[in-house]
Amino acid sequence: MELASNLGRLRLKNPLMNASGILGSNSSLLLRLASTGIGAVVTKSVGLRPRIGYPNPTLIPVGGGFINAMGLPNPGASYMAKEVRKVKKRGVTVIASVFGKTPQEYAKVALKMEEAGANAVELNLSCPHANGLIHFSQKPELSKMVIEQVKDQVSIPVFAKLTVEASSVVEVGRSVEKAGADAIVAINSIGAMLIDTKLKRPVLANKIGGLSGPPIKPIAVKCVYQLYEAVNIPLIGVGGIVSTRDAIEFILAGSSAVQIGSAIALKGLDVFKEVLKGLKAYMEEEGFKSVNEMIGLAHKASGGSRLDV
Ligand SMILES: Cc1cc2nc3c(=O)[nH]c(=O)nc-3n(C[C@H](O)[C@H](O)[C@H](O)COP(=O)(O)O)c2cc1C
Repeated sequence: MELASNLGRLRLKNPLMNASGILGSNSSLLLRLASTGIGAVVTKSVGLRPRIGYPNPTLIPVGGGFINAMGLPNPGASYMAKEVRKVKKRGVTVIASVFGKTPQEYAKVALKMEEAGANAVELNLSCPHANGLIHFSQKPELSKMVIEQVKDQVSIPVFAKLTVEASSVVEVGRSVEKAGADAIVAINSIGAMLIDTKLKRPVLANKIGGLSGPPIKPIAVKCVYQLYEAVNIPLIGVGGIVSTRDAIEFILAGSSAVQIGSAIALKGLDVFKEVLKGLKAYMEEEGFKSVNEMIGLAHKASGGSRLDV
């Protein structure tokens, strides 16, 4: 049975990764993630300079998931480059998530990550609560500018992480493909807030945060399904995956790989082993010889299952 999955030029030993921002801000956390056996580890989004992030509270459980407004705390590109080097020495596949205030800044950080040995860069164009990042992936033109600048600077694969908060995520997807993106990561957390009814004020210090976890899964699956029909580059599905079933749903919708974030907080690092084991069992039961055979299968059938979901 072949668990390996290809993201263009990047071959993963299996299709699982952590989502950016949940662990991943230094080498020891990245190595802990790698020890679960996942196909690649993704760093916390890193900018040119260190950022402290927002004051607490920054993370609140809600509706089975979370709303967070961390404010992209990160140690800055130079520090992260050293951490990536340490992880690469251990033979781990590393995807560096990067952000910038301008397309040029994205390109500078991406280049530092390539020089540190990252196997790919994931451009966070879509954080709903920090630095105005979301505006990049809300507009096809802006996302295109970022991809073009980064592609100009680096030769490793470039992934574009998109938001569903665009007038058309499909249009944005088409535009990043045209600009040369090697894969699309869909989706980031979705702008959300919670009001404290006693204090009569927003709970998060930043007022607005991003919703993640099980509440956003059906939205993320739809997004992947639609992108699969619109673009020819590989898709990496993320949003609300807590079980094998969720991961398989994303693959059938068209994902070549999947990322897991909030579920690490809900279930611990064991979630990766559980999902990997479940994926193998499903493939055996259903007679799939490779993950590749499963990708996008939901597009072949017409809708209307009567099975319990
Ligand atoms: C606490 C927290 C921090 C996050 N930080 C980042 C980040 O630095 N960069 C990024 O691209 N996404 C970040 N995200 C979004 C996740 O990578 C992911 O897209 C989102 O949470 C949906 O996946 P999930 O439902 O599996 O958590 C963060 C999410 C959470 C909950």
